[in-house]
Amino acid sequence: MRKLLYLTPFLLIGGYLLINYSKPVASKVNQARLILSELRGGDFTHAGDKEAVDMVIAKIKQDFPEILKGNCLDVGCGFGGTADYLVKNGFEHVWGVDIDPAVINFAKAKYEGIEFLTLDAASLSLKFEKEFFSFAYLFNVLYAIEDKVQTLKQLAKVSKPGAILMIFDYSITDNNEPLLDLVGKPMRPIDTKKIKRQLYESGWEVLETRDLSETFIVWYEQLLQKLEEKKYEIKGNFLEQDIAKFSATYLHILHQLRNKSLGGILIYAKRI
Ligand SMILES: C[S@@+](CC[C@H](N)C(=O)[O-])C[C@H]1O[C@@H](n2cnc3c(N)ncnc32)[C@H](O)[C@@H]1O
Repeated sequence: MRKLLYLTPFLLIGGYLLINYSKPVASKVNQARLILSELRGGDFTHAGDKEAVDMVIAKIKQDFPEILKGNCLDVGCGFGGTADYLVKNGFEHVWGVDIDPAVINFAKAKYEGIEFLTLDAASLSLKFEKEFFSFAYLFNVLYAIEDKVQTLKQLAKVSKPGAILMIFDYSITDNNEPLLDLVGKPMRPIDTKKIKRQLYESGWEVLETRDLSETFIVWYEQLLQKLEEKKYEIKGNFLEQDIAKFSATYLHILHQLRNKSLGGILIYAKRI
């Protein structure tokens, strides 16, 4: 019975994928991610919405204010809401890259003053000069990347010595049960036992790490609460199966956070 309960989110996700791949796709933008963005009240698809970005902006303004005038890179920028929020908070030069052309098209059409590019984070040096950026950040992106060292090395290549890197993501301490993200891809959370070495190997020195696991629980509880409160509105705009997949994915993440097989982490590192 417990096994069946554990499998429920995967069955729902599997059902969702079957239905979706068997009919024409109306829009290339993933619908479940649009639900997330609508619930979060901005074009964010990371935990903690604006609160998480505010946390990072406050730290940068206090400890590294020179970054506001430098070149900043939003890696895995998604719909572009985070990059735009930084610009509105005084960051003067922001670029956004994402591997998904659909989200880049969305961001380009909506936000001005930011250069958005479709690009794999593992190939940053194909598009950017060496030592170009003063600040690079990833909000819930590294979990989706299998070869973290390759991407961190690319980030080091396009960042100045002394540049700051901010990683905000899911974390694990032990090998846990497999997880799928909102688009059905495997999640590879940050291994807290390995990340310091992975960063150092790639040219980054860790300045600070902060365990956000308890805060992630509160944020995901709030997100599911918002889904409940806005369910009639959401039902008017999205298909039932998209809402079901969304709900199953986040319930599963919340379950993993509560049983401590998943956590949240914030890391600041400096380019050596
Ligand atoms: C959970 S979303 C977060 C989006 C955005 N950072 C935010 O906070 O709203 C993860 C994003 O990472 C992007 N992504 C995944 N792998 C990537 C890669 N190798 N290079 C660039 N972007 C990637 C996905 O396309 C997706 O838009």
